[in-house]
Amino acid sequence: MTQSPRQISIPRGTHDILGPQAPLWEKLEASARRVLTCYGYSEIRTPIYEDVALFKRSLGDTSDVVNKQLLELKTSNEDEGLALRPEGTAAVVRSYIENNNDKKEPLSKMFYIGPMFRGERPQKGRLRQFHQIGVEAIGPQAASPLLDAEVLALAMHLLTECGVKTPKLLLNTLGSIEDKQHVSVFLRDAFNQRRDLLCEDCRQRFERNVFRVLDCKKPPCKAVVAEVLGNQGLPLSAESMAYFDKVKASLTDLNIPFTIAPHLVRGLDYYTHTVFEITSEGLGSQDAVGAGGRYSGLLHQLGADPKTEFSAIGFAVGVERILLASGQTEGIVKGLDAYMVVMDHVFSARAFNLIQQLRLAGISADMSYNGASMKSQLSRANKLSARFALILGEDEMKSEKIAVKDMTASTQEIIDQNNLVNYIATRLKK
Ligand code: HAM
Repeated sequence: MTQSPRQISIPRGTHDILGPQAPLWEKLEASARRVLTCYGYSEIRTPIYEDVALFKRSLGDTSDVVNKQLLELKTSNEDEGLALRPEGTAAVVRSYIENNNDKKEPLSKMFYIGPMFRGERPQKGRLRQFHQIGVEAIGPQAASPLLDAEVLALAMHLLTECGVKTPKLLLNTLGSIEDKQHVSVFLRDAFNQRRDLLCEDCRQRFERNVFRVLDCKKPPCKAVVAEVLGNQGLPLSAESMAYFDKVKASLTDLNIPFTIAPHLVRGLDYYTHTVFEITSEGLGSQDAVGAGGRYSGLLHQLGADPKTEFSAIGFAVGVERILLASGQTEGIVKGLDAYMVVMDHVFSARAFNLIQQLRLAGISADMSYNGASMKSQLSRANKLSARFALILGEDEMKSEKIAVKDMTASTQEIIDQNNLVNYIATRLKK
């Protein structure tokens, strides 16, 4: 007996988006596009893989995303290190620099929608292939607290429009690049004195990137952080605090509620000044539905003209987490406009010609090509949620007519075949 070949399954941490789920994604993406364009952002599509050095240099060698989660590609050329993109910011900045955007406009406002890849341990709300909707505002004129407020307002508007009922905005500032350097020395010194109290992970983190300790959820580390910082934020310069005050004032002016999270630092290295996370109930331990911040140093780090001063800010929201947070699990059934039912297979050529006329007029139509029984064709029309069943029998063939059955009202009319497109279009108000 020959063995049947092994069935191949979908890789762990990935999902098929199929059936009624696909129209739900389509609707969500359409709503997102509407909101994003209202704020003046235009779409950018970058490759789904990039030079691995791009991610290492931007996200930081010590970040979990680079250290543990990069999905690198095997290519025949071993010198060519490529990786699937774990996020969108690095590639957008790479493209901005490569295309000399700064010579073309003072501020580039871009958005992207697409899959990202991280080799994480899969769990609820945490996938290996997930989808982000992200925005990046980059340019020599991007250093304005009003732009921070715009990006935050946009993130909240977008999530609400996509059905997230109670998004909660957590906000902090990391200060300027110089502040970050001073704070890093201050924290390293303070944690060094309390080194034995930190968990094993933090003892390592603290050597490589001291800010990570602030992120640790373990009670002993939280206690150390509380002792070092109290309820205060990081010790920053007056200038950075004044900038942050302006961001907060703009949000208050727009009636956007926020909570200051003085220990929020984020897991990617490139952030400076404003950082934020947006959480939602019902997501379990992975409760961040979106996150972002300002990243002014990244442009020069990736090779932008050193003579130009740049700033940038952006965020990304996770589509799977939006769907979880908004409870949209059912999907959307997209019905067909018309389904052709042929009473005898010999009428199929005529029926096929008629549905093509409907399709060319933008009316969705379908039929069976294999001579199924009338009962099974009608049940197929029902299954596809067809608005009309078009019935072609011997009488109709002879008289060049067709029976149109309204599947919702259960009424039927006989019309001329050459008036079919007009008739259906009028009934559908197309
Ligand atoms: P991030 O916090 O790594 O930031 O990801 C943003 C959002 O993507 C998260 O809040 C979450 O909704 C979703 N997400 C991340 N990882 C996963 C996963 N494994 N499974 C499902 N969803 C996930 C960034 O990616 C930055 N690039 C955001 C940014 C843009 N900062 C400035 N500009």
